[in-house]
Amino acid sequence: MKINIDQVKIIDLPKIEDQRGNLSFLESNKHIPFQIKRSYWIYDVPGGHERGGHAFKVQNEFIVALSGSFDVLVDDGEYKRTYSLNRSYYGLHIPSGFWREMNNFSTNSLALVLSSTLFTEDDYIRDYESFKNYQRR
Ligand code: TYD
Repeated sequence: MKINIDQVKIIDLPKIEDQRGNLSFLESNKHIPFQIKRSYWIYDVPGGHERGGHAFKVQNEFIVALSGSFDVLVDDGEYKRTYSLNRSYYGLHIPSGFWREMNNFSTNSLALVLSSTLFTEDDYIRDYESFKNYQRR
């Protein structure tokens, strides 16, 4: 299926404000449009380093900046967009098939990634030219 950059969306999450501190949450298939099979998080990224230069064939994901800030570049093979994530009450939904990179990590940033699949290296497209060819099929 041909992907389109407009399918990548910021999703606002519930935010329960309280004098004792705020609380946000999400549920599979309710606040995000897929069932969560795996969670991972990226932290202690040294200044200037990048993560995630790849695409996934099947994996849907939802990325939240639980702490600090970072940028997510998304590319559908034709158009690119960069999203700055810096609050824990919203995140970025990236359906399968998009190239994505993460950079500009602030000190002490914590990126939570919720995934629709279990880990398998077979789902990765790690080379940009292969990604372009995959889009052209
Ligand atoms: P990778 O997804 O390439 O990291 P990033 O996209 O942030 O640059 O994963 C880095 C390494 O960790 C790679 O060897 C695969 C391994 N890994 C797992 O074993 N399980 C997982 O759930 C993830 C996300 C990665």
